[in-house]
Amino acid sequence: MRLDKYLCDGLGITRKQATKLLKSGDVTLDGAKVKSGAVKVSSQSEVMWEDRAIVLRGPRYLMMNKPTGFVCSHEDGFNHTVFVLLDEVRYDDLHFAGRLDVDTTGLLLITDDGKWSHRITSPKHKCDKTYRVWLADPVQEEYANAFQQGILLRNEKEPTLPAELEIISDNEVLLTIHEGKYHQVKRMFAALGNRVEALHRERIGQIVLDETLEPGEYRDLSPQEIESIFSK
Ligand code: URA
Repeated sequence: MRLDKYLCDGLGITRKQATKLLKSGDVTLDGAKVKSGAVKVSSQSEVMWEDRAIVLRGPRYLMMNKPTGFVCSHEDGFNHTVFVLLDEVRYDDLHFAGRLDVDTTGLLLITDDGKWSHRITSPKHKCDKTYRVWLADPVQEEYANAFQQGILLRNEKEPTLPAELEIISDNEVLLTIHEGKYHQVKRMFAALGNRVEALHRERIGQIVLDETLEPGEYRDLSPQEIESIFSK
């Protein structure tokens, strides 16, 4: 993680304030004075401001606009993992609150708070997720009813929970589901004889993908966004 970001996270200040603090010459990294915010801080580094040790604040909650071609895992022999896009320390502590497939884009939540992510991923909490779906074949009128009734996916014992479909155009829909089975959206459309060509997650609970984030960019969640998951 860059030193200026570390100072922002550790002291709760803006990037501009961190740059000013560094310019003052009162910040040291492992005992040496540093003025550049671009210097990398590792998990073993000791960052001091005057005689005060700066440690990172509590749990982390991040929102990324996931690009295609990156996998949601710590290691992958073939594709890049999403972690290469993060400028954070202690990567190993972070996990995904609902993975996306390698070719799926959009809202990805990353955290080190297991209780928080459990509220998103556990079927018990029925946290809704909205996906924009582009289909190979035109959407059929009966889809909405089929999703509302629940669909029995291959290799599953129980049908999917009722899901809501909004038709945007012949080949584009918004689908809201309340659980997160493996490849769920693709399998739901496959069960109806269609194929998902592209998939983009736009919303999880009340957290909506920030449109200012370019693919691959991420930001901290606001306190309201974090809290919205607990207060659901
Ligand atoms: N459903 C899918 O099929 N893939 C995803 O990435 C997310 C939901």
